[in-house]
Amino acid sequence: MPSLVIIGSQWGDEGKGKIVDYLANEAHVVVRFQGGNNAGHSVKIGEELFALHHVPSGILRPGKLAVIGNGVVIDPNVLIGELDSLTSRGIKVSNLRISDRAHVIMPYHRMLDGAEEKMKKGAKVGTTGRGIGPCYSDKVSRLGVRMGDLLDPQLLAEKLDFLVPLKQRVFDAYGDPNKLDLEAIKTEYAAYGIRLKAYVTDTGAIVETALHKKKRVLFEGAQGTILDIDHGTYPFVTSSTTVAGNAASGSGISPLMLDDVYGVVKAYTTRVGEGPFPTELHDSMGSKIAQKGGEFGTTTGRARRCGWLDLVVTKYANSLSGFTGIAMTKIDVLSGFDELKVCTHYMLDGKKVTRIPADLRQLARCEPKYQTLRGWEDIDEKEMTKILKKGYSELPRNMKRYVQFVEKQIGVRVVLLGLGRRRNEILDLRKGKWK
Ligand code: GDP
Ligand code: IMO
Ligand code: MG
Repeated sequence: MPSLVIIGSQWGDEGKGKIVDYLANEAHVVVRFQGGNNAGHSVKIGEELFALHHVPSGILRPGKLAVIGNGVVIDPNVLIGELDSLTSRGIKVSNLRISDRAHVIMPYHRMLDGAEEKMKKGAKVGTTGRGIGPCYSDKVSRLGVRMGDLLDPQLLAEKLDFLVPLKQRVFDAYGDPNKLDLEAIKTEYAAYGIRLKAYVTDTGAIVETALHKKKRVLFEGAQGTILDIDHGTYPFVTSSTTVAGNAASGSGISPLMLDDVYGVVKAYTTRVGEGPFPTELHDSMGSKIAQKGGEFGTTTGRARRCGWLDLVVTKYANSLSGFTGIAMTKIDVLSGFDELKVCTHYMLDGKKVTRIPADLRQLARCEPKYQTLRGWEDIDEKEMTKILKKGYSELPRNMKRYVQFVEKQIGVRVVLLGLGRRRNEILDLRKGKWK
C-alpha cells in the first residue's frame, strides 16, 4: 500500500513542513494525525513563506486532499484564521477534511496551560501556551469536546453546562483570577461549528478508502520523537504520541496500512522550550548555527537552542519508528565551518549509553562523546545551482562524508537532502518515484 509517514526525529522543527510539501507533489492525500497548533511548519515557495499550524502542508499543492485526523487537537478559531489567510493568498481550502473525533481546544485549556506553567515556576516545560496539554488531558479523562459536538448546539450546550463550572472550580482552587463566561463560550463554539460544518466528517473512512484504491497517502508528523509523551524527555515533552505507530491510530486506519517511514533529521540539533539537551552549544558556535539557520520558532518566535547532531537521539528515533529513509535537512547551514562534531554515544559512570535513559537525572549526567568531521567551504549561488542541477556528485566532498557518516551510524539511507529553504532546494536521492 502506498503510504508514507514523515516523522521528526529530534525535538521538532526538523523541516518536516518542507519535506511534506516536496513529497505532497506525488501524493493524493496528506494527513495530520497528532498534535495541534503547537506545530509550526514553514514552507517557502519562491519568495513566499507559508507557516502552517493546523492545516496539513499538502494544502499548498492544488488538488490534494488535506485531512486533519482524529488524533489532532484543534483550536477552531486558529484553524478558521488559517483557512482565511490561505484563501486570501489564493490557496483553495475546499479539499480540507476534519475528523469529527478530533478534540477541541477550549478557552479554559489555553488558560490552564498558562496557569499550570506559572505554578511550576522553575520546573516549567516551556510549552507553546496553546492549551495542548490540558486538551489532551481532558480527552484522556473523558471530559473532552469533539469536533462533531460543535455541530449539535444542544449537545454542545449540555456538555458545556457541566464542563465550564467544573473548570471554573479548578481556576478557583488554583487561586487563579480567570472567570469563564458559560453563555459566551456556548455561542462562540456553536458559531465555529456552523463555520466548519462542511469540513467535518469521518476522516478514517476517507483515508482507508484512499489506501484501498491505491492512492498515495502522506502522513505529516508534528513535533519530534524526543517530545513524545512516552518516549521523550518526560515531563519536558508535548502531550501526544509523535512516533510512527500513531500515524495509524491518529488517523483511524490499521497499522498494517503503513508502508514507509521517513525520519526527518536536521543536520544539527535544536530544541525550543525547557528540558535536557546533551549536545547543546553554549558558545559562539551555537549562536553561529542559530543565526545561519534562522533558528527562531515558527509558532512562538522563541529562539531555538542549538547544538551538534546527536546520533543517540536519531538512532533512538529510528528504533521507535523504523525509518525506511532519512530526509536530512539544513546541511547547507553547516557550510563554512572548519570542523563539525557529531555525537555518537554518551558515557555515564564509565559505561557507554546508546539509548535515551528514562531518568532525567541520569540523562543530565550523561557525557556526550563526539566524532570530529572535516567541514566544507561556504557554497555560493552559482555552485548551488550546479549542485541542484547535476545532483549528489557535485556536493562538496566533506559534505558527502558527513552524509555517509550519518547514514552508516543510523543504518538508514538518506533519500532526500535539504540544501535551502525553498521548495526546489532539495536533492532527491530516492531510487525512482514513490510507487
Ligand atoms: P517543522 O516544524 O519540522 O516543519 O520545521 P520548521 O518549519 O518549524 O523549521 C524549519 C525551518 O528550516 C523553516 O524555516 C524551513 O523553511 C527551514 N528549512 C527547511 N529545510 C531546510 C533546508 O534544507 N535548508 C535550510 N537552510 N532551511 C531549511
Ligand atoms: P513542530 O511540529 C518544536 C515543544 C514546546 C515545549 C514542549 C511542550 O513545529 O516541529 P506544548 O505546547 O506542545 O505542550 O509544549 O514541546 N514543542 C515544539 N517544539 N517544534 C514543535 O512542533 C513543537 N511543538 C511543541 O516548545 O518545549
Ligand atoms: Mg516547527
